[in-house]
Amino acid sequence: MSLFLLVNASQVVTCAGRAEARRGGAMDDVAARTGLAVAVRGDRIDAVGPEDDVRRAYPEADVVDCGRGVLAPGFVDSHTHAVFGRGRAAEHEMRAAGLDYMEIARRGGGIHASVRDLRQRSEDELYALARGRLRTLARSGVTTVEVKSGYGLALDDELKMLRVIRRLAGDLPLRLVPTFLGAHEIPLEARATAGGRRAYINTLIHEMIPRVAAERLASFADVFCETHVYTADESREILAAARAAGLGLKLHADELSPSGGAELAAELQATSADHLAAISDPGIAALAAARTVATLLPATMTFLGRAGQAPARRLIEAGVPVALATDFNPGTSPTLHFPTVLTLGVSQLRLSAAEALVAATVNGAAALGLAESVGQITPGFSADLALFDAEDYRELPYWFGAPLCRRSWVAGKPCDW
Ligand code: NIG
Ligand code: FE
Repeated sequence: MSLFLLVNASQVVTCAGRAEARRGGAMDDVAARTGLAVAVRGDRIDAVGPEDDVRRAYPEADVVDCGRGVLAPGFVDSHTHAVFGRGRAAEHEMRAAGLDYMEIARRGGGIHASVRDLRQRSEDELYALARGRLRTLARSGVTTVEVKSGYGLALDDELKMLRVIRRLAGDLPLRLVPTFLGAHEIPLEARATAGGRRAYINTLIHEMIPRVAAERLASFADVFCETHVYTADESREILAAARAAGLGLKLHADELSPSGGAELAAELQATSADHLAAISDPGIAALAAARTVATLLPATMTFLGRAGQAPARRLIEAGVPVALATDFNPGTSPTLHFPTVLTLGVSQLRLSAAEALVAATVNGAAALGLAESVGQITPGFSADLALFDAEDYRELPYWFGAPLCRRSWVAGKPCDW
């Protein structure tokens, strides 16, 4: 079993504390320490302590010099749509010229454009594209990534996407969490006929979810609950079927308009409610009374050019645990640079640097049901680590767009692919 020590970091951001989502004031402490070394044995963190003590306790270990950088838990990107074909740069310009996201979708663009493209591509092609993208994301310091299906919108194409994710999970030095998002849109062919919408929902419930669960192709199910997409009642029905099949629950909630998404996520005790840029006051109160993590995606509103970001401060003040993620996708957030999300977390959502980092580690892990083993530099936790060219953790959100990540490890293995 491999054994190595990480020494000579200017700071070790441990995020040490309770192995659950952090709320309120507990989000504002990353437990950054100087003079610490970290011992990694096999896939786990074995010890964290003063450097001299750790060196004495492990005289036989290999030593990795952190060169006065900041050592932190690897980022957990708990919301991505990383499997798709081509990008959608034309829509970016169309929005700048005044067309809005939902109008583009109504004209057959948006998610529908990515569905048409993905259905024509082979599994191998999608695998190669996603592999390259995940590599770029990993190089920014991400060690865990959730990846959703949702550009197939038909049984075989959704299974194709989930098999790509499974293959990537087996091949890459990254922790991948697959989510079934067959309810990402109503497919155009279903929108075209009177009973098509209901028939597609029946297919989701009676064919797709049981098959995905039986083949163990996903850990979570998700629904895009939004005006003109799935109503809260339809979302409830789909997620109830997913829960009955043994899947964890997530929800695209209140992204563009208040659609009762946060309230529904709270009612179902979903693991996370994501987006929330248009959350209502009752939605905030409902989440505060639930265990659900609010996953905020500030790159999305920024890229869409929309003014209203999620009310992060009000969520934190209400006691809702907040996570940050990229929402990497070809339509609304084509970024593969996780630290940019930290920057936007501070500049747009008004988080402190510590809150942004907790949101990207401990709370990101909680948004994937992994808070007991991922997101902290604490003995017993998985050795998912990232080393940054910085002296102080506040520089991670500060150096806007900079390639600060020097090295990373996933379950004790160097992520140098
Ligand atoms: O999270 N809103 C739904 N899904 C994505 C966008 C997907 C797309 O436009 O391709 C999101 O923003
Ligand atoms: Fe999304």
